[in-house]
Amino acid sequence: MAGMQFTEKTLDYAKNPRNQGEMEQPTAVGEVSNPDCGDSTTMYLKVEDGIIKDVTFETFGCAAAVASSSILTEMILGKTVEEAYKLTEEAVADELGGLPDKKMHCSLIGIDAMRKAIDNYRKGIVRDDD
Ligand code: FES
Repeated sequence: MAGMQFTEKTLDYAKNPRNQGEMEQPTAVGEVSNPDCGDSTTMYLKVEDGIIKDVTFETFGCAAAVASSSILTEMILGKTVEEAYKLTEEAVADELGGLPDKKMHCSLIGIDAMRKAIDNYRKGIVRDDD
């Protein structure tokens, strides 16, 4: 779903992000930055038996990236890593009630960070540089 401006829900998640902050002793962490705009997101996952038991994020970037990353944490909590990995930026945008076309790419940064964290989990490492 696409529109011209931010929905109320997007503005709410941008202003009051849920699950924001660093996690102590995460199972896996994924960090990505978008070279075009310089925005970045880090996802912290606590995984037990393949299930996401806790998730937090930190985003330094635009309102759409903050809102998308935040709502993604709620979407993947309690899911298996396989289910979470398959989520798309369209699913995240839909959950926010749509994003302006020009901001669709901003919803990808959280997804990419989450997938990187899951990749690290599968490799048995916490972070890329471990
Ligand atoms: Fe960079 Fe939105 S403008 S993520």
